[in-house]
Amino acid sequence: MATARYLSGIQPSGLLHLGNYFGAIRNHIAHQDNALYFIADYHALTSTRDPAVLRANVHDVALTYLALGLDPERATLFRQSDVPEVTELTWLLMTTTGMGLLERAHSYKDKVARGISPTMGLFSYPVLMAADILAYDSDVVPVGKDQVQHLEMTRDMAASFNAIYGEVFKLPKFILGTPEPVPGIDGEKMSKSYDNTLPIFAQGKALKKLVMSIKTDSTPMEDPKDPNTCNVFKLYSLFADAPALAEMKANYAGGNYGYGHAKLALLEQIKAHFADAHARRAELMQTPELVEEVLAAGAERARAKAREVLDRARAACGLDPA
Ligand code: ADP
Ligand code: TRP
Repeated sequence: MATARYLSGIQPSGLLHLGNYFGAIRNHIAHQDNALYFIADYHALTSTRDPAVLRANVHDVALTYLALGLDPERATLFRQSDVPEVTELTWLLMTTTGMGLLERAHSYKDKVARGISPTMGLFSYPVLMAADILAYDSDVVPVGKDQVQHLEMTRDMAASFNAIYGEVFKLPKFILGTPEPVPGIDGEKMSKSYDNTLPIFAQGKALKKLVMSIKTDSTPMEDPKDPNTCNVFKLYSLFADAPALAEMKANYAGGNYGYGHAKLALLEQIKAHFADAHARRAELMQTPELVEEVLAAGAERARAKAREVLDRARAACGLDPA
């Protein structure tokens, strides 16, 4: 049986953080064979308006993936905008997608509620995302929980198109890295847009300062503490093995163990977990042209597949010579 094709995208809209890592990237690194991972720069245009910042962010996402162990021989890593076929596919999908479906999107409604004046790009964001997925006949899309609705919409859009034109698109499944969103230092969902992140590649004093500022309750040092409601413990449990976790639980239950102690233990776990990746990243930073070569080679492979699917969709609609 052919290997299932994994595909996912990540927006280059700032430094990648532990929420991105445990929610999505860790699964991307775990499922590499026959996989496609891309940097969603077309999507980032809905929020990033500075070309120099966008270019730098795209490069940084590529560097992050390679440092974390993405092997460009096994997986295809590319820039979304290097495959313009997805924008044509977006149009085809738009003609069969109901406005009502898009009007129900949480991410769109949340942004409007936060006072962002919406563009057509922001409104149609989920259609571009569906095209990203359908263009490569993807089987499995590893994402964080906040993207689940977009995946359901993708399946709806594929089904509507197929109902009219026949079995053109494969309906993808998704997998989650963590059952719930990873909390940020303020206890809300960790997100680049909330300024509450622990960046994957934060180091030294800057990292320590962030970890020490994680929000906790005011239970006195001597008293027992509840691990289940504690942000430090939630983050610690993403890194620690079973014995370390059991020890931390016992410390919380026993009292005379402060949140400061737990934060220092978390800090050590973070440092140890990313030590190798830090070293690889430093090495890759010496050869930026290598990173660009990886993206160019990835684009070529991705584009060939997208062309095939787009031609299939065009023919189904009658956009080919009689
Ligand atoms: P952000 O909210 O920081 O802008 P993105 O929307 O770019 O993050 O998300 C990239 C990937 O990381 C998506 O698959 C998303 O679901 C996942 N992700 C983002 N934040 C979290 C989080 N706090 N917990 C789990 N997964 C997350
Ligand atoms: N919308 C996703 C996010 O913000 C990024 C993304 C774009 C994506 N296209 C995709 C994720 C296709 C999975 C598949 O995280």
